[in-house]
Amino acid sequence: MLQRTLCIVKPDAVKKNVQGSIIQKISDAGFKILGMKMIKLSETMGEKFYEVHKERPFYGELVSFMISGPVVVVALEKENAVTDYRTLIGATDPAEAAEGTIRKMFADSKAENAVHGSDSEENGKIEVSFFFAESELA
Ligand code: CMP
Repeated sequence: MLQRTLCIVKPDAVKKNVQGSIIQKISDAGFKILGMKMIKLSETMGEKFYEVHKERPFYGELVSFMISGPVVVVALEKENAVTDYRTLIGATDPAEAAEGTIRKMFADSKAENAVHGSDSEENGKIEVSFFFAESELA
């Protein structure tokens, strides 16, 4: 079943200028890029995007990190996209991420972990539509 999932190349990875390498790896793994843009999130957008984590102790830190610099948001499509993309990026904490995964290669810490990925098929759809109008998607 074709699914959508949202990749955000986070500010740490953009600062290191590795967004091209990350997107190449995603593309090589068979994901179709439906839409892509570099933006700087406003505080309101950051708070809204991560609203599900509002009660977590790291919410404030997470939002201020995500608005600290430009990010690249990429709408992806593939069979089984949600699980396959999460396998490709690796565990949230790069110390626990498998060899060869994007987070193992490019992330610095649990907070500055290079990329975001949607955690379910439903959230994949919601998160893609958070950043892209349907008319913007190829
Ligand atoms: P992401 O996939 O963007 O979704 C929620 C984010 O919260 C997650 O990646 C991590 O970057 C971040 N996160 C999770 N746990 C912690 C933590 N203990 N401290 C700071 N950030 C965290």
